[in-house]
Amino acid sequence: MNIGIDKIAFHIPKYYMDIVDFAKARNVESDKFTIGLGQKNMSVNDRSQDIVTLGAIAASKILTKEDKEQIDMVIVGTETGIDQSKAAAVYIKSLLNINDYTRCIEIKQACYGATAALWYAISHISLNPESKVLVVASDIAKYGLNTAGESTQGAGAVAMLISKDPKILNVKNNYVSCTNDVMDFYRPNDSIYALVDGKLSKDMYLDCLNKVYTKYIQKYGKKEYSAMLFHIPYPKLGKKGLDMIEGNNEKLSENFEKSILYNSNIGNLYTGSLFLSLISLLENADLNENENIALYSYGSGAVAEFFEASLVKDYKKHLLKDMHISMLNNREKISVKEYEKMFFENLDKDVEYKNISNEKIYLSGIFDNKRKYVSDINE
Ligand code: HMG
Repeated sequence: MNIGIDKIAFHIPKYYMDIVDFAKARNVESDKFTIGLGQKNMSVNDRSQDIVTLGAIAASKILTKEDKEQIDMVIVGTETGIDQSKAAAVYIKSLLNINDYTRCIEIKQACYGATAALWYAISHISLNPESKVLVVASDIAKYGLNTAGESTQGAGAVAMLISKDPKILNVKNNYVSCTNDVMDFYRPNDSIYALVDGKLSKDMYLDCLNKVYTKYIQKYGKKEYSAMLFHIPYPKLGKKGLDMIEGNNEKLSENFEKSILYNSNIGNLYTGSLFLSLISLLENADLNENENIALYSYGSGAVAEFFEASLVKDYKKHLLKDMHISMLNNREKISVKEYEKMFFENLDKDVEYKNISNEKIYLSGIFDNKRKYVSDINE
């Protein structure tokens, strides 16, 4: 049975900051961020947007009334969750009016969480072929003002409907995963920001890639791929990974550039980053049915995986390219000062938050320690 991605969409905040403006404000040569990291812009959310609103809006773009009746599981992959106990999936299910006979959970392992969610969805469908599972990868990557990681922040969500006989991508049951216990990036309970050893994190990303790819070749043999996708904390690291395992391969390099068009304008989405790169590739590269794509997922701490998928006939007809491009083109640029205020604004309690981004689902405040969401989605 073929199982994989039937529908896919992303949602990002309305505001962004130009990375060159940011470099100037921090007294850094802009080439360091534009060439050294490969970044152009960074998405900035306001406080009425969180991982629930971003994830719910992303999912609202792909779900029909019938999907909401057929879904029996919602899984959110996130590492910037809003609650230690209640799953973000419960809020998303409710905001989207998905039927009550649905299992709702959250999965965490840094940026790898959404890949784990994808595999859980696939396992579930292989046991229950008529099921549809909503997988949402949603994060706000925030390192804090004047930190080394500040240039690699971002915000947004990717939503995927997983089913049998998918219209976009068949995920193959070929994979190698590995776990290396390392403190490259982690966020203890008493810290609002992740603690990062930047150099170690870069090394681990590449070491784990080498480890899973080498084992993959031993297990399945060396294969031809039309494209290789990577977790993209910033585009340059993905390119380093590609060059490390495939040398300077012209076709793969060309398609890699297509796969980072959206990421370089948005920033790190943590769990959503690999899947944003997938959308960017599918919507901008010229690939044919049955062509094979390899995917490298990396979540600090560290869990990594190399796996494989193939394109379904007419997949392009089922993408939301126009909607995505228009969302990217209609964003509003803000200054570094505005970013500093907006991105780091306190989540004060018992006050109303304005819907300044004019979203159809937003956080209107935290009252009596409960998040209050407003939605104008009726179906
Ligand atoms: P940094 O120390 O400020 O920068 O932080 P750098 O000195 O490493 O420079 C960055 C690159 O720019 C270097 O290239 C420089 O040579 C180059 P590289 O050596 O890496 O090839 N450079 C220039 N290039 C052109 N012109 C110039 C110039 N100057 C310098 N003038 C760092 C960079 C990424 C470490 C920092 O932003 C950071 O800590 N970010 C957060 C952690 C991160 O993104 N790590 C990536 C791997 S871990 C991962 O992917 C997981 C993650 O997504 C989290 C999760 O799993 O949940 C982060």
